[in-house]
Amino acid sequence: MTIRFSLNGETVEVDCPPTTTLLDWLREDRELTGTKEGCNEGDCGACSVMVTDEDGARALNACILFMPQLHGKAVRTVEGISGPLGEMHPVQNAMVENHGSQCGFCTPGFVVSMAVAHLGGRRDHDDVLAGNLCRCTGYAPIVKAAEAAETQPIPGWMHDKTPESETNLLAPETSDALAAWYEAHPDGTLIAGATDVGLWVTKGLKDLGDVVFLHRCRDLQTIQDQDDTLKIGAGVTMAALLPVLRKHHPSYAELVRRYGSEQVRQAATIGGNVANGSPIGDNPPALLALGATLHLRKGDTRRTVKTEDFFIEYGKQDRQPGEFVEAITIPKSAPALRCYKLSKRFDQDISALCGCFNVAIENNIVTDARIAFGGMAGVPKRATSVESGLIGKEWTENTINAVLPLFRDDFTPLSDMRASADYRMVTAQNLMLRYFHDLSGNTVSVLEVTS
Ligand SMILES: Cc1cc2nc3c(=O)[nH]c(=O)nc-3n(C[C@H](O)[C@H](O)[C@H](O)COP(=O)(O)OP(=O)(O)OC[C@H]3O[C@@H](n4cnc5c(N)ncnc54)[C@H](O)[C@@H]3O)c2cc1C
Ligand code: FES
Ligand code: FES
Repeated sequence: MTIRFSLNGETVEVDCPPTTTLLDWLREDRELTGTKEGCNEGDCGACSVMVTDEDGARALNACILFMPQLHGKAVRTVEGISGPLGEMHPVQNAMVENHGSQCGFCTPGFVVSMAVAHLGGRRDHDDVLAGNLCRCTGYAPIVKAAEAAETQPIPGWMHDKTPESETNLLAPETSDALAAWYEAHPDGTLIAGATDVGLWVTKGLKDLGDVVFLHRCRDLQTIQDQDDTLKIGAGVTMAALLPVLRKHHPSYAELVRRYGSEQVRQAATIGGNVANGSPIGDNPPALLALGATLHLRKGDTRRTVKTEDFFIEYGKQDRQPGEFVEAITIPKSAPALRCYKLSKRFDQDISALCGCFNVAIENNIVTDARIAFGGMAGVPKRATSVESGLIGKEWTENTINAVLPLFRDDFTPLSDMRASADYRMVTAQNLMLRYFHDLSGNTVSVLEVTS
C-alpha cells in the first residue's frame, strides 16, 4: 500500500506492509532515532509524535500507529520540533532553563507533547503530560517548563500543511465503502484508533491478514444533536467526545478525562471501545447506565440493539461477520448519572472497577434505576437485582444498606492482577453508598484525603 504524508515538512511516499508501525519505520528506515521506544504498547509516551490533519494537531504514540493511519496527514517528530536551522522551540528552551531533563530518555516524547499543547494553547499540563512517563526528573520541573513556554510565540515551522492524498481502498472515505469492503471480507480486521489492535501486532506478534482502516470515514466521526438524544458516530475519538460530554454528562466526561492518556484519547474511538467487548472498557458501563442504543450495519442492512443485549459473554458480542458498529445513541440529559473509576493509578490506567449509576427519584421514591459495572463479570453488566431492590423504595441510606447484599446475586467477580474478587465486591458496594451520598450533595473527591 502506498502511503503519502508530510514528514517534518517534506512530502514522502512509502510502500510498506499495512501493519508497519510509524515508530519502526522512523527508527529503522529513516534513522530518525529521536523518537524513542520505551514500552511499545502506548503506555509511556517516549514515542510521541505530532500528527496534523484537517482537525488540527495532536500528539500520538508512534509505537501503536500504523503507517496507513498517516495517509494524507503531516507528521512532525522531535527532530522537526526544532527549526530548520536548528533553532530551539520555546518548550525546548524552557526545558533547559527549568532543568526538565535528567537521563533524557523521556525528553523527546515530553517535548513533542509540550509543543503540541503549546500550539493548541493548552494550559491543562497535568492532563496533557499524564501519558508521558518520566522516571528520574520528576514532573514539577517539566510542568514548570510547560508553564514558562505558554506565552512564547509559536514558531512558524510548527504550522504543518497536509499533502494531497489519493483514495486508498484500505482506508475508505465513507461508511458505505467500508460496509461494502467488510461485507466482502467478513474475516478481515477493522482498525479504528489501533489502541487495541496495535498491541496485537507489537506485543501479540499477530499477522492480521486483511485489514481496513476506519479513520478516513468522516461520516463516522460526527456527533448529531437529535432533540433529546445525541447520536455519536463510532469513529468519534475520546478526545472529540470529551467537550460534548462535559456539556451534557459531566460525570461521564470526568471518566473519559481519565481514559488512558492524551495520546490514547486522541486515537481511541468509542466504536472500538464498545466493539472489542472488553469487560473493563470505560465507555460500556456509562452507556449501559444511560440506556444507550447501538446502531449496527452490515452491507446496506442496519439494525439497532440495546447495549445490554450486545455483550453476550466474555469474547462474544451480538455482531455478525461483516457487521460493524456505525453509531451509538445516548440521551442528552441524565442529571443523576455518576461514573466512578477505580484504578491503581489515577491517570493513564485501565479500570480495576468502573461503576456507573443513573437512578430516577420522585418524591423520594426510586422510580427507575440503571446501575452498571465494568470489571465485575466477563462482560460489562447491569446490576439488575440491585436495581429491582431499589425501585419503589424510599431513597434513604437504610434502603441502600438493604440492597447491598444483592450485589452477590448480580456478580461473582474474579481475582486478577488489577484487583481481588473481594476488593471488587466490597468496592462495588461502597460505590453504591458513595452514589447515595453524592446525590445528597456529599461528593467525595478521590484526590483529597481528609480525616
Ligand atoms: C496505553 C493505553 C491505555 C488505555 N486506557 C484505557 C482506558 O483507560 N479505558 C479503556 O476503556 N480502554 C483503555 N485502553 C484500551 C483501548 O483504548 C480501547 O480498547 C479502545 O477503545 C480501542 O479503540 P480503538 O479505536 O483504538 O480500537 P481498535 O484498536 O482500532 O479496535 C479495537 C477492536 O474493535 C474493532 N472495531 C473498531 N472499530 C469498530 C467498529 N466501528 N465496528 C466494529 N468493530 C470495530 C476492531 O476490529 C478491534 O477488534 C487503553 C489502551 C492503551 C494502549
Ligand atoms: S514506546 Fe511507550 S508509548 Fe510508545
Ligand atoms: S529524564 Fe530520565 S526518564 Fe525522564
